[in-house]
Amino acid sequence: MRLDKFICKSTRLDLAQARLVISHQQVLVNQKTITDAAMQVHENNQIELLGERLFARPSQYFMIHKPAGCICSNKDEAYPSVFSAVGLNQNEQLHIAGRLDVNTTGLVLATDDGRWSFSITRPEQHCPKVYQVTLAKPITSKAIKQLEKGIVLQGEAKATLPAVVKALSSTKVELSICEGKFHQVKRMFAATGNRVKALHRQQIADIVLDIAPRQWRALNQQEIDYFS
Ligand code: URA
Repeated sequence: MRLDKFICKSTRLDLAQARLVISHQQVLVNQKTITDAAMQVHENNQIELLGERLFARPSQYFMIHKPAGCICSNKDEAYPSVFSAVGLNQNEQLHIAGRLDVNTTGLVLATDDGRWSFSITRPEQHCPKVYQVTLAKPITSKAIKQLEKGIVLQGEAKATLPAVVKALSSTKVELSICEGKFHQVKRMFAATGNRVKALHRQQIADIVLDIAPRQWRALNQQEIDYFS
């Protein structure tokens, strides 16, 4: 882990403040003053700030039920961030593992463990995600076949990986996909000539959303271990 990140993880300092104390020569690693914020350190290194040994806090892992109208970002922008929308006070270390669009609702995972989130989001992982999709027009059997087979999205050369499609009603579908391309679900249905009216994520791998909108909770050890 980078030295500046380690300092954030072990103190109440944010990244900018961590870099400042490093550049002000207030940080020792194994008894040597270090001014390189990017230096790679390990928990076994003896890291001190103004003479006090630092120990990294354990990583944090959360499930959030994202409401519509907020963004998967750390900062409020044109829309509030999902963290402020649900009242999850966080330091800037937390990030979202697999974003949702502003109007998409449902399961979002947040953590300060970059390796854990990468194991969810890296394309080779093919991490399954389950969405409930409300469509503008009834789904056709041709569209189901296209989605199950894989469909070429606008601007892409390769087809999507095969999806699992369960029609819940004529305009409601449960869709499971193992990719996370930009606006993927909306683009998949657009490619079948339909339009997504509402989108909700219910599940990521074995982690199932089980809290009400605008709630959040810490993940349990079993849920964390799915990606460890
Ligand atoms: N696919 C989309 O189109 N939007 C999302 O928010 C998630 C998946």
